[in-house]
Amino acid sequence: MDKRHEELVEKLKDSEFKKGYENACGEYKVGIIPNIFGWILVFAGNTVYGKKPSYEKFKAVEVIARIPYQSWEWISYMFLTAMYGNEQKAINLTHTSRFGRVAQDNETMHVVVMTQICKREGLGGPFRHYLIPLLFSFFYYIVSAVLYTVHRKSALELNYLFESHAYEQYSEFIEECGDELKKRHIESEFLKFYGRECKNEYELFCSIRDDELIHRNESIRRISVPRA
Ligand SMILES: [Fe+2]
Ligand SMILES: [Fe+2]
Repeated sequence: MDKRHEELVEKLKDSEFKKGYENACGEYKVGIIPNIFGWILVFAGNTVYGKKPSYEKFKAVEVIARIPYQSWEWISYMFLTAMYGNEQKAINLTHTSRFGRVAQDNETMHVVVMTQICKREGLGGPFRHYLIPLLFSFFYYIVSAVLYTVHRKSALELNYLFESHAYEQYSEFIEECGDELKKRHIESEFLKFYGRECKNEYELFCSIRDDELIHRNESIRRISVPRA
C-alpha cells in the first residue's frame, strides 16, 4: 500500500475535488499508435467478455492491467544498469520503477479480490478466466515494453486508454448495481493485508474505480516527467 495513493483515494470521495481531478485529463487526445492498440484491446475484451461490465470481465481486466507497470519497472531497472553513473538519471529511473511497483501492487490487490468474488459467485473456467487473460497479457507486455523503450509517450497514452476504459466500466457497474453492491459484505484477507478497509462491495468498487482514475491521470502526468 502506498500512503500517497491512499490519501488521494480518500480525497476523491469529495465530489467537487473528484470533478476537477476527472476533468484534468478527461479530454486528453492520444496519438494514432496508442489509439490503434487501445482499440484492439477494448474490442477484443468486449468480444470475449461482453460490452457490459461484470465480475468476470473485471477479473480479466485486472489480470491485464498489471502488465504495463510490470514491463516499465523491468525496463527502468534495465536502463539503470546502463546509467547508474549519472545520479540524476538514476533518480528519474528510480521514480519510474517506484511508480510501476506501486501501481502493480494496487492492480494485484484488484485481481486477487476480484478472483475471490468470482469464486464466491461460482464464476470461472480455465479458458475464459485463465488462458485468454494470459494471452492478452502476453500481447500487452510486448506492446508496452517495445513502446516504452522506443516511444515512451505512446506507451503512457496506451495505458491512459486502458485505464480510462476500466474507469468507465467500474463507473457503469456502480451506477447500475450500486444498491445490490451495498448489501454485499466483502471478506478478503488480501484486502486487509493490503491495508484497505471496505464495509461492503459498494465501497470496494468505488475505491477501485478511483484507483483506475488515478492510474489514468498519472499516465498523462508522467509524459512530462523525464524517464532518465
Ligand atoms: Fe485495476
Ligand atoms: Fe489501473
